[in-house]
Amino acid sequence: MKLWTGRFSKEIDKKTNDFNSSISFDQRMYKEDITGSMAHATMLGATGINSAEDTEKILAGLQDILDDIESGKLQIDPEAEDIHTFTEGELTKRIGDAGKRLHTSRSRNDQVALDIRLTLRNEVDSLIPQLEELIKVLCKKAKDYSEAVMPGYTHMQRAQPIVFGHHLLAYAEMFMRDIDRLSDARKRMNYSPLGSGALAGTTYPIDREMTAKALGFDGACRNSLDGVSDRDFCIELANALSLVMVHLSRFSEEVILWCSWEFKFIELDDAFSTGSSIMPQKKNPDIAELVRGKSGRVFGDLMTLLTVMKGIPLAYNKDMQEDKEAIFDAFDTVRMCLTAFIPMIDTMKVIPENMRKAAAGGFINATDCADFLVGKGLPFRDAYKATGQLVALCIEKGLTLETLPIDEYKAVCDLFDEGVYEAINLEKCVNDRTCLGAPAPQNVRNMANALEAMLNEKD
Ligand code: ARG
Repeated sequence: MKLWTGRFSKEIDKKTNDFNSSISFDQRMYKEDITGSMAHATMLGATGINSAEDTEKILAGLQDILDDIESGKLQIDPEAEDIHTFTEGELTKRIGDAGKRLHTSRSRNDQVALDIRLTLRNEVDSLIPQLEELIKVLCKKAKDYSEAVMPGYTHMQRAQPIVFGHHLLAYAEMFMRDIDRLSDARKRMNYSPLGSGALAGTTYPIDREMTAKALGFDGACRNSLDGVSDRDFCIELANALSLVMVHLSRFSEEVILWCSWEFKFIELDDAFSTGSSIMPQKKNPDIAELVRGKSGRVFGDLMTLLTVMKGIPLAYNKDMQEDKEAIFDAFDTVRMCLTAFIPMIDTMKVIPENMRKAAAGGFINATDCADFLVGKGLPFRDAYKATGQLVALCIEKGLTLETLPIDEYKAVCDLFDEGVYEAINLEKCVNDRTCLGAPAPQNVRNMANALEAMLNEKD
């Protein structure tokens, strides 16, 4: 039975009903819908719009419905149009006429706008701890491997020496920004649309501040048209979630490279890798690949939301029902990815010897070699050129800067002396990179501790 039967002379076509219905995905908001209705009912009682007696019945009835859904006693009807219709219909079934007074001065338009804000607020509040957990794992690992020298890359070419811990903390910074972005979007979203009505508020003496406060909002939306038709927060959150996926995807790509035989910087735990049905030697980084792949879904969700919203006039239009599947999918996907990704990182075996070997083979101390000459008074550009000649020489002779005899050095530039070997020692090269944000092991340990302290402060 539909809520809006008065004007209609026949029931909606069955297939059209399925098309029109949102119950399959908005039933997820049953708790928020009931909580919102309770705040609304309480306000209707407090302002004298509904009697105390009706208010009591409504509140008790809503509580029973909530309890019965949670205990499994009450099944949400898949034939209902949406969760709002279902709850109100069930209430009236249970308490009679009083149930019909719940919707006074309210529309499903402000109701759904409220429900989705409440739901997404909870989603943000449960996702942030997951991101914090990931950062904590990265900090722990960064401290464990604050001295593991590895090549840092640009253009996928070995560039300069860093330590593995420094590399991990770069990701920690990204996830810190993700937390910031989600919290920031949450702040802007935290205003109550309830009382905006269908679009133009109401003539009843409602108290919007009261319901806003009861539901934990920072205030009430200032404009009723905007209150019902704003979905900026869905787009902002989908954007923030897309960036989480960009970060997870880049990280996954590196994990995939690192556990290849070509790198072998890490090995994934058996619990987080899979075998091949034909090649017995294979151990595949499927989890990382799936995370990388699932980023596409979340970007798609963002694009869905932008496209749904871009052309609709004020105020509510049914197009907006499409918001929920997209934003819920984005949250569900990110949550699933983090749930698999965090323990995968936590349990991966790091192989510092292989990192050190890769660091030794790629002339990543060439900048430091040039800096040695700068220390002897040569202008940097000349030092750069001389070092370039040395690298070419090494390649020709199949040597490294470490193994090239001192006479060869001197033949290229007479400012060289035995001290150069100490200057290009990889451990020294990273140890001396102590400037703010650079990979010296002590810096890495300090930064990991600082990040942990920031997270603990938040808790
Ligand atoms: N199921 C609808 C949605 O998700 C609820 C609002 C319906 N309002 C309306 N006037 N048809 O947007």
